Amino acid sequence: MAASSSVITFGCLLALGHILAPTEANVHPVLTHKNASSLLGQLVTSSTLVWESYDPKDATQLSFAVEGGKYITEDEHYPIYVCRVTIDGVHTSGHTEKILQRHRCVAAHYKHGKYDNFDVLMNKGHLGKVGWKHWRKFDAGVPVGAIRIGDDSFIGRHRATHQPNSEGIATHWGADFNLGRLDPLGLGKIMVIENDREKYYDDGEVLIETEPFRYELRDIKLDRIRTDLRQNLTELATGKLENLGDKYSTVETVMTYSFDYIQYWGSHDGVARGLPTKIFEKDIIIPAEINWALKTSEKRFENKAVQTKLWPGTAINVTLRGTYVTLEAPYTAKLFAFYYGSDESVSRKISADVRKSYLKEVKLEFSPVYWIENGTLVPTTTTTTTTSTSTTTHATTTSTNEPTPINEPPLVHVKHMGEKHSGPDSLEKTLHDSPGSNEVNSHEAPENMSSNPGKDVALAGFGVNAAGSIATAGSACMTLLLTLFLSL
Ligand SMILES: *[C@@H]1O[C@H](CO)[C@@H](O)[C@H](O)[C@H]1NC(C)=O
Ligand SMILES: *[C@@H]1O[C@H](CO)[C@@H](O)[C@H](O)[C@H]1NC(C)=O
Ligand SMILES: *[C@@H]1O[C@H](CO)[C@@H](O)[C@H](O)[C@H]1NC(C)=O
Ligand SMILES: *[C@@H]1O[C@H](CO)[C@@H](O)[C@H](O)[C@H]1NC(C)=O
Ligand SMILES: *[C@@H]1O[C@H](CO)[C@@H](O)[C@H](O)[C@H]1NC(C)=O
Repeated sequence: MAASSSVITFGCLLALGHILAPTEANVHPVLTHKNASSLLGQLVTSSTLVWESYDPKDATQLSFAVEGGKYITEDEHYPIYVCRVTIDGVHTSGHTEKILQRHRCVAAHYKHGKYDNFDVLMNKGHLGKVGWKHWRKFDAGVPVGAIRIGDDSFIGRHRATHQPNSEGIATHWGADFNLGRLDPLGLGKIMVIENDREKYYDDGEVLIETEPFRYELRDIKLDRIRTDLRQNLTELATGKLENLGDKYSTVETVMTYSFDYIQYWGSHDGVARGLPTKIFEKDIIIPAEINWALKTSEKRFENKAVQTKLWPGTAINVTLRGTYVTLEAPYTAKLFAFYYGSDESVSRKISADVRKSYLKEVKLEFSPVYWIENGTLVPTTTTTTTTSTSTTTHATTTSTNEPTPINEPPLVHVKHMGEKHSGPDSLEKTLHDSPGSNEVNSHEAPENMSSNPGKDVALAGFGVNAAGSIATAGSACMTLLLTLFLSL
């Protein structure tokens, strides 16, 4: 029994793609009743709810549990949670009850057992909206979003009947609701256990999950120390400017290139994979739209017009290179979930890892002027300078041993055409203008650094330059090094 259930658990975890820390409880998928256009009454796996085995040692576990009602005693009211156990091979729902600091599951079953080992229904991301919806026999059928327990029943409850005490006042100690199930057979009924007996009702409440249909990610903050920026210089396009005419004139070519713009904002417990998500980075007017927990990759095209004046029969080779960057960083942010038929959103703070790849610093390189006919360099003009985008550069003239210069050094113009996609990424920019990455000030430095100026001369010098150089390089590595250095 125990062995087979752990095998099942393992399979589910693989399917859900969860990473299981050794201390974490076992997790099982939750099936909900959904409204699929072709298959009414189809059961689908909830993206936000799970059944998790109760762990009495985990004090925070139940803060994510779905409430079923309140338990009322003379001195306290405490929440009771939706739980389930397996009785005779069938999943049976119930509610928790507290004995000292431990919870156990009171099953809605005629055997009326109380169980120490059970599963609790968890709303892990707190992003699934879960609520009790009134149900009557004549409402016909299982409501959309109902949560399946066992063979063909769904989580339901019925208000506990209050018995007047000797003074005739309705006092009720115990659970304010009895948790049981909606049994959809026939017109359906709600079954609960009352006074140790199964009772059937024509009305009650059914637990409904409303899943969000989209998310927004806001207030994004990168962990600067753990940010990793990898860059590589990539050849984007090569071309040739040549003058095939018979007089000194302007020649132009348009160079087109593309790069993969990739973003991945990580995944998170209880956050539905694939849901449309708007990413509101700082100072961004139009948010990026991605599908949560999926890599978004698009090919972006750019054009540059390159132009120069050349003598007849001569040419230059031109090459465009760019720095392709991959930024990876842990971040925290607020994730807002939106639901159909509701203006309210639910938000929570999440931590995940972001990865972005983009192109920045596109540069033009060009060769010396050469004769088209035989490829030999035209004397006196050596033009191996690079220019940055949208600027005009005089190729440097270095003295050669050739007699007289034939040509002036060419001026090469680069003009961007159409939409521009390359450049420092918005995330990288926030990395730069946020304080902290370039701060080596009092609160980060060890207390006695300033009181002991004579000791670390090198360190002091490094510190002075560091503010500037780290700011421009934006290098987390340097900050890290510096921090290590300071803490020696
Ligand atoms: C469920 O689907 C039916 C038929 O497609 C539709 O009429 C009904 O409005 C849907 N209910 C909800 C709650 O989406
Ligand atoms: C440089 O970037 C290109 C483009 O993404 C990639 O294919 C290549 O592997 C990278 N090279 C290095 C050395 O990282
Ligand atoms: C120009 O490019 C061609 C091939 O693209 C190459 O064979 C030639 O050596 C280059 N010339 C110079 C001066 O770089
Ligand atoms: C190459 O061609 C140019 C133009 O026809 C000529 O002036 C130059 O002398 C040639 N150089 C060589 C090495 O043949
Ligand atoms: C630096 O400060 C620490 C703690 O304040 C102290 O223990 C240590 O002796 C100080 N070192 C010097 C060199 O002043």
